[in-house]
Amino acid sequence: MRNGIRRIGEGAEAQIFETSMFGTDVIAKIRQPKAYRIAELDRELRRSRTRKEAKAMLRARNNGVNAPALLALGEYSIYMEKTRGRLLKDAKPGIGIYAKIGSELAKLHDADIAHGDFTPANIMLHGNGVCIIDFGLSDITKSVEDKALDLLLVKRAVKKEEFKALLCSYIKKYEDSRQVLDRLADIERRGRYQTRTLA
Ligand SMILES: Nc1ncnc2c1ncn2[C@@H]1O[C@H](COP(=O)(O)OP(=O)(O)OP(=O)(O)O)[C@@H](O)[C@H]1O
Ligand SMILES: [Mg+2]
Repeated sequence: MRNGIRRIGEGAEAQIFETSMFGTDVIAKIRQPKAYRIAELDRELRRSRTRKEAKAMLRARNNGVNAPALLALGEYSIYMEKTRGRLLKDAKPGIGIYAKIGSELAKLHDADIAHGDFTPANIMLHGNGVCIIDFGLSDITKSVEDKALDLLLVKRAVKKEEFKALLCSYIKKYEDSRQVLDRLADIERRGRYQTRTLA
């Protein structure tokens, strides 16, 4: 990006722009007002969600997770380093990449960050590795359930053997993985039970 600012996306909560600062490509994530919310509440929600997202992203980086560097923070805006590469959902990488994803998730969970939206739409392939983006639904928490939900989300989104590779490195790198895996099995059992009783 040489000049100006270009809108590259619009999510449920925020608009995403690409721009440049001091010669570096930058992504700006800006939370827009929602007309259906009371104005004061809307500002407070956007402020707190922006802060929460920035905090999780920063904590991830500080704990060695490959996540974009936070460059600047406004009341409703986050300016971050642009990651070069494609989203996992738009690519067909070799199985080896899933071990790297498992290792990033292990680092997140070890730092007590539950990503909250750990899907191929929020994982970028970057060089030979991966970069985790979109901490908009992240929580700083010790919750085993929240961590298990990260695994469940990605399990549902990738192929069996891809998840297996991811899980293998997750288990190797995260000391408390046993508890999370047990909870994942519980959640899946609950899910099956619900489906059976609803049927
Ligand atoms: N640091 C980044 N580098 C490169 N591209 C990015 C970066 N951050 C976001 N993007 C691009 O913008 C898209 C949307 O960003 P993001 O996933 O953070 O928000 P969202 O999912 O639209 O928002 P929300 O979480 O509010 O629903 C990504 O799918 C990706 O293509
Ligand atoms: Mg996203």
